[in-house]
Amino acid sequence: MADPRPPFVPTPETVVDVMLRLADVGEGDVVVDPGAGDCRVPIMAAEKYGAVGIGIEIDDVLVARCVKEVRRRGLSKVYVVYGDMYRFDYRLATVITLYLLPDSNKRLLELWRKLGVSNVRVVSHDFEVPGLSPLATIEVGGPLRGHWLYLYRL
Ligand SMILES: C[S@@+](CC[C@H](N)C(=O)[O-])C[C@H]1O[C@@H](n2cnc3c(N)ncnc32)[C@H](O)[C@@H]1O
Repeated sequence: MADPRPPFVPTPETVVDVMLRLADVGEGDVVVDPGAGDCRVPIMAAEKYGAVGIGIEIDDVLVARCVKEVRRRGLSKVYVVYGDMYRFDYRLATVITLYLLPDSNKRLLELWRKLGVSNVRVVSHDFEVPGLSPLATIEVGGPLRGHWLYLYRL
């Protein structure tokens, strides 16, 4: 039987770090990662940059992995949401990170506009957000290939 889970392709840790620095993440930020995978983005946002990190993930196996890792590291500022990223209230975010296909980015942008999300930095890995113009576009070397990062402000 085919696996119904959507694919988990992680962003390399070194690229996560550049994404967070590109968005100038610091204490006082709330970093939301829709489609968080193993929660490496919210974990680094909290552990290294002092932000609150929120990962939203639909795959229960990955959610369990996130919770285990957050506990293992003793992090109190990381929240793991088990559910659909299209049913989340993004108005609490100050930074949103993405590693999703353009169609998903477009659907999320429509949701943010409907919710009135504003004054938020968005960093997208490899795929643009259709309908937004990037403030900056950079290429970062990864362990196996180059990665494109796009910075936006809503
Ligand atoms: C390409 S991975 C990115 C993981 C992580 N953000 C990173 O950069 O390492 C995309 C993740 O999105 C999750 N996903 C796909 N559709 C989702 C949805 N509707 N709600 C929540 N998570 C979803 C998948 O399970 C997968 O873990």
